[in-house]
Amino acid sequence: MDIRFEGAGVSYGKRVALQPLTLEISERRIGIIGLNGSGKTTFARLINGLTKPTTGRVLVDGRDTADEKSGPGAVGFIFQSPQNQIILPIVRDDIAFGLKGRGLSKAEIDAKVEAVLARFNAAHLADRRAHELSGGELQVAALCSVLATDPGILILDEPTNQLDLRNRGLVQKLIDDLHEQTIVITHDLDLVSCYDRVLVFHEGQLVADARPAEAVRRYREIAG
Ligand SMILES: Nc1ncnc2c1ncn2[C@@H]1O[C@H](COP(=O)(O)OP(=O)(O)OP(=O)(O)O)[C@@H](O)[C@H]1O
Ligand SMILES: [Mg+2]
Repeated sequence: MDIRFEGAGVSYGKRVALQPLTLEISERRIGIIGLNGSGKTTFARLINGLTKPTTGRVLVDGRDTADEKSGPGAVGFIFQSPQNQIILPIVRDDIAFGLKGRGLSKAEIDAKVEAVLARFNAAHLADRRAHELSGGELQVAALCSVLATDPGILILDEPTNQLDLRNRGLVQKLIDDLHEQTIVITHDLDLVSCYDRVLVFHEGQLVADARPAEAVRRYREIAG
């Protein structure tokens, strides 16, 4: 899908979270890196309208993300803490919840839930309680819930944060195998090493927009 920032910026009172920014993104694999508080999550939240720009606008396939009428669905978002986005206690019910209100029959919803669980080898998680899952299992459950809704773009905010080496590897492979357009915010620089394009934010500004090696070099300079 085509993501377009047109002078889009965000301020909270006098604090500038994101300097006005103009750019277009259509690549399939995008990485976003930068220090804590540099504006990465703010940038990502503009793409699905969770945050509205205080100047300019953001368009996804020509639709203004601040416009309520354009509705959710096109952009899936996995939060920095996925436990915050699980709504229902049982994994299967949580996945089904996201599919309600779309005019699907119960049988169609059940089939979609089974299909997404199978896609991620996660059938064994279907009847588990989300709050009992390990960090890696929870990431997988959150991916299932979001991808069941067929988003055109998937945004993952620090998906390997808090994961051990094995779960990190598992989640990295899941992300690498996704056919959806994917935007990954991360402090895990290896994760973005094969991406098409990496954006570096610093103090609310986009300071590099490059291939991974160049972007990481710039980030290391900033981190000093
Ligand atoms: N709702 C808000 N109200 C006030 N300030 C905010 C709000 N959201 C973000 N900020 C500020 O905007 C700046 C950018 O925050 P943002 O969450 O985008 O950073 P980040 O790059 O995602 O950081 P991290 O790596 O720590 O997740 C920070 O200074 C933050 O304190
Ligand atoms: Mg963040």
